[in-house]
Amino acid sequence: MGNSILVFDSGIGGLSVLQEIRARLPEHEYCYLFDNARLPYGELSEQELISGCVCLIEDMVARCNAAVVVIACNTASTLVLPALRSRLSIPVVGVVPAIKPAAAMSHSGHIGLLATPGTVRRAYTHELIASHAKDSQVHLFGSSELVMMAEAKMAGQPVDLSTLSKILAPVKETEIDVLVLGCTHFPLLAEELSQVLGETIRLLDSGEAIARRVVHLLGEAAMIAGPGKLTAWHTTDAISEGLSTSLRALGFNAILPYRIEGR
Ligand code: DGL
Repeated sequence: MGNSILVFDSGIGGLSVLQEIRARLPEHEYCYLFDNARLPYGELSEQELISGCVCLIEDMVARCNAAVVVIACNTASTLVLPALRSRLSIPVVGVVPAIKPAAAMSHSGHIGLLATPGTVRRAYTHELIASHAKDSQVHLFGSSELVMMAEAKMAGQPVDLSTLSKILAPVKETEIDVLVLGCTHFPLLAEELSQVLGETIRLLDSGEAIARRVVHLLGEAAMIAGPGKLTAWHTTDAISEGLSTSLRALGFNAILPYRIEGR
């Protein structure tokens, strides 16, 4: 059995999930792979997304001897899970927007899904809504600009609340009382989102549920204390000084470029 937990995203969003897993398994070894050369995923075609992610993740699972891989990206999870599961012999955990708990929690019967343009378009999302929120009014909002704002924040830049307010104007026009953060980048902006949206709209993400699932899948192996090593791999040649500083502050001991042949 492998010995590390591989967490994957297009950018820094998967860190919101990694933090939840680490809160439960602090001694484990983690590999964080982010495909920032192709960010934002919400703008990629389905074929580009599937083929790129499968090659990359399959290779990384072998390189870091992973025991479990977490696709900490809703956009990728809407498409790549079947292909990945057919090629890997370790558990593959995907992220599903928290539509079901949001529908159960809402008093107004109106819930929102804030995700990438890719996620709000996908059949996967519409099927999820049809099966778990058929009695709710679900309002869909897609934004890649928010993804890039979360990236900028993690690179040390301030979040412009007036820009955020403009992006969220359509959300504020609805009667929603719960907003599902269906992109793993968005919990990293939770404070600013709440400032703009106010306290009456509850924000809900899937990070905690994913972390519980990982602990469950690892079973007894979850109890084994590891070296607590954290390695981050990026698919661009280099990353900004600001991002590097934030990753080190989160505890990453090594930050390395990942090279793919032919890129
Ligand atoms: N963090 C991702 C998600 O959960 C993808 C963001 C993007 O690259 O567009 O959907």
